[in-house]
Amino acid sequence: MPVESHLFSPLKIRDLTLANRLVISPMCQYSAGDGIANDWHMVHLGKFAQGGAGVVFTEAAAVQRRGRITHGDLGIWSDAHAQALSGITGFIRSMGSASAIQLAHAGRKAAMQRPWHGNGPLDDSDRQRGEEPWQVIAPSAEPVGEGWLLPVEMTSAEITQVVEDFAAAARRSDQAGFDIAEVHAAHGYLAASFLSPVSNHRADGYGGDRSGRSRMLLETVEAVRGAWPEGKPLFVRVSAVDGAPKGWSLEDTVALAKDLKGLGVDVIDCSSGGILGSATAAKGPPPQPGFQVPYARAVKEEAGLRTQAVGLVLTAEQAEAIVAKGQADLVAIGREALLDPNWPLNAALSLEADPEWNQWPKQYGWWLSRRAKVLEALAQASGDA
Ligand SMILES: Cc1cc2nc3c(=O)[nH]c(=O)nc-3n(C[C@H](O)[C@H](O)[C@H](O)COP(=O)(O)O)c2cc1C
Repeated sequence: MPVESHLFSPLKIRDLTLANRLVISPMCQYSAGDGIANDWHMVHLGKFAQGGAGVVFTEAAAVQRRGRITHGDLGIWSDAHAQALSGITGFIRSMGSASAIQLAHAGRKAAMQRPWHGNGPLDDSDRQRGEEPWQVIAPSAEPVGEGWLLPVEMTSAEITQVVEDFAAAARRSDQAGFDIAEVHAAHGYLAASFLSPVSNHRADGYGGDRSGRSRMLLETVEAVRGAWPEGKPLFVRVSAVDGAPKGWSLEDTVALAKDLKGLGVDVIDCSSGGILGSATAAKGPPPQPGFQVPYARAVKEEAGLRTQAVGLVLTAEQAEAIVAKGQADLVAIGREALLDPNWPLNAALSLEADPEWNQWPKQYGWWLSRRAKVLEALAQASGDA
């Protein structure tokens, strides 16, 4: 008999029922051609659906061409981009997973090198490869730090255009067959750079106090919710704290989450950092496993909406405890899934939630359940000997 598991219990959000609480976190692959998905994305995302995740997220998909982090990012700024993603969403659904797209604009952290080319701003070495830098945009004309590209301050017309482009991207994502859309407002990218007092020094209605700095994101979310079908869930990823002196705080996040709830957001995906450099590859003391879980718990408890925890969730037991204790509704894994695309299926085995290998694709499960019996018999025999 399967052991009862919170992690492997279904969750209904609007008209969508997720098979379990495990989510593959958005992860840039730097492998698209002018934003268009290709076979890499099909195999990369498809294997996570085969691997039993409840939700499979695409990487950040740029709503404007200049909103890409690198030349290799996915985009969703034209119908051709949506068309290229539609086969992937179909495959993910056929595996019993839900497909999710992260809608994004990189703002002043656009025009970067792929990690294996240096992970810094595009420079002459990239020019020689034919990968020119482009003009980056931001709430204020301030770079992320020394050596980073200098952004131009956005006009209010440019802000309106970005908001409309997020909405158009949501419409296309629906046409491409996605079940979930997420607005990326974390890691120092455009929306996060509007939120943070570290990067937003505007004198107009999009800057100033928390409500002014939140305006760009709230307008974006309102437009996306209007363009995204009523029955489909909407997530927002935030950096719950900037981690910078005088930066965006958890208290700010809770207040923002209440506003987002009022606009029809279903889940707050709680990450952190990135305003003054890299989020996941941040320098400094190594974070502890589950270091961002307290943010998901605080938002869930204090703002009263569902949350997703992410960041150094390393074991099945850890993920199970997060959901069982009510700290978050969903648990996202990133690098662990790169290491083992079958992480969710293996987690179900180790929690004894799937003793008969029923959750595995039928092409594999029948064989693997018999293999398990052989291994059991061998272990027994060697124990008897
Ligand atoms: C290769 C890679 C690419 C990433 N790209 C994105 C991205 O496109 N959008 C995003 O919000 N986070 C991105 N992240 C962060 C992950 O979604 C996740 O929050 C982070 O890796 C922490 O989770 P983990 O410890 O399970 O890897 C990326 C992380 C990795 C490793």
